[in-house]
Amino acid sequence: MLIAGNWKMNGGQQALGEVRQLTGLITSKGAEILICPPATLVTQMAQAVAGTGISVGGQDCHPEASGAHTGDIAPELLKDAGAQSVILGHSERRADHGESDSLVQAKTRAAWRAGLRAIVCVGETAQQRSAGLTIAVVTGQLSGSLPGWSGQAALDQVLVIAYEPVWAIGTGLVPSNEDIIAVHAAIRTHLLQAFGPAGKTVKILYGGSVKPDNAQTILHLPEVNGALVGGASLKAADFARIINSV
Ligand code: PGA
Repeated sequence: MLIAGNWKMNGGQQALGEVRQLTGLITSKGAEILICPPATLVTQMAQAVAGTGISVGGQDCHPEASGAHTGDIAPELLKDAGAQSVILGHSERRADHGESDSLVQAKTRAAWRAGLRAIVCVGETAQQRSAGLTIAVVTGQLSGSLPGWSGQAALDQVLVIAYEPVWAIGTGLVPSNEDIIAVHAAIRTHLLQAFGPAGKTVKILYGGSVKPDNAQTILHLPEVNGALVGGASLKAADFARIINSV
């Protein structure tokens, strides 16, 4: 199980204090924990969690390794700063910055080039769900966003999928258990088709309004291998309760 915290554009020195508290609150041994703070905090966070088993990730990267791209961050720079993973194709980036599947695919390749694990996000909007397009949208995003893998490392070391229905993010709404099960099963089928037996090993996270009160149920559904947590990852006590539901 992987429990990943996505701090989005939040956090500061106070939030670093929350992380120091977090380690004292974790009782579950079954979860791998990842925190993705804003890029400005990656180095300090990596220092703060050194030796705790918690790892640090970025929230986006540029496809190129260096160059004239003001304001962007190469995956190589994230890696240098202490990140081991990077979230890619989050719906807020797809919406706010018009990120396409092919850009997410280029970023995934770039993350692999730099030695980062890519956490590739997919998910349908409310409109797409009511039009009955959820599975088609999600599998279409996977087809467009995932490159082929022929590297040395095992696929599960370099790729994680996060299913995040857009309408569930930050709203307190979550799909029914049956809906989560159906989408995760479709993602698993796609991974097996795309990568062969290695597709079985890739973790599929659920994200979108995961809270201390619903984590236990969601994390025990078939093919749910962890969670990507936004708002509830900012408070040590809440994040610890989610981690301890594993
Ligand atoms: P949320 O965000 O947990 O605040 O809904 C999840 C995400 O966007 O990754």
